[in-house]
Amino acid sequence: MTARFDKLVVLTGSGISAESGVATFRDADGVWAKYDYREVATPEGFAANPALVHSFYNERRRGLPSVEPNAAHHALAELEQRLEAVGGRSTLVTQNVDDLHERAGSKNILHMHGELSLALCGVCNASTPYADDLSLESVCPACNAKGAMRPDVVWFGEIPRFMDEIASAIASADLFVSIGTSGSVYPAAGFVGEARRLGVPATELNLEPSENASFFSESRYGPATEVVPAFVQELLEPLD
Ligand code: APR
Repeated sequence: MTARFDKLVVLTGSGISAESGVATFRDADGVWAKYDYREVATPEGFAANPALVHSFYNERRRGLPSVEPNAAHHALAELEQRLEAVGGRSTLVTQNVDDLHERAGSKNILHMHGELSLALCGVCNASTPYADDLSLESVCPACNAKGAMRPDVVWFGEIPRFMDEIASAIASADLFVSIGTSGSVYPAAGFVGEARRLGVPATELNLEPSENASFFSESRYGPATEVVPAFVQELLEPLD
């Protein structure tokens, strides 16, 4: 017995974490309404003022323990587990740097924009778990170099991670689902076009139509904690 679809690629953006209390980027009260992304999310900004960039990410990293995964995160974890149990697969590609998908139980996750809970050493290039504040005084846990640590996140102008894995997952998918993203940042915003070019049907689950809404073969609008569990339940119905 299989579900309606066997091989899914699910792309998530900050909208899936919004109801957990994590700010989105481009909503009226979003992160980029308070900060200039050029100052806090580019290599040039880090070179010009590393202390400002560290404080920007320290504040977000410090907030992680106080937020919890919501029903949408949990629904995607259940989708992955139940599909795998019947020989299917769900690849979760997230633009988010929070750890809410992990804490909800998802395993097959590709953090294409890196992770807030990891720090990258500019000397040995090791990426290590880091829950504390980062600063110019921080020492690399791998090579002990001091003053070369940065958040292990992908800044504007840098190359997103796992692009080959994402391309092959989309090429072998029978459904592409996009959740909680405005479709305004590439290459993530281009994944739906890639899926459609390959004949893969695509569903958008978002609060409102995204910038690339016209690419989707199906769209459902509403809060992720309502729309995502309902959609997952429909997908898994044949297994019940
Ligand atoms: N449920 C579902 N969708 C929601 C909710 C919600 N409760 N709240 C907001 N949204 C939607 C918004 O309508 C918007 O379309 O989530 C989307 C959030 O879009 P952005 O703020 O642009 O965030 P995102 O698409 O993740 O940004 C992509 O841009 O700044 C970079 O690296 C950053 O990964 C980020 C990337």
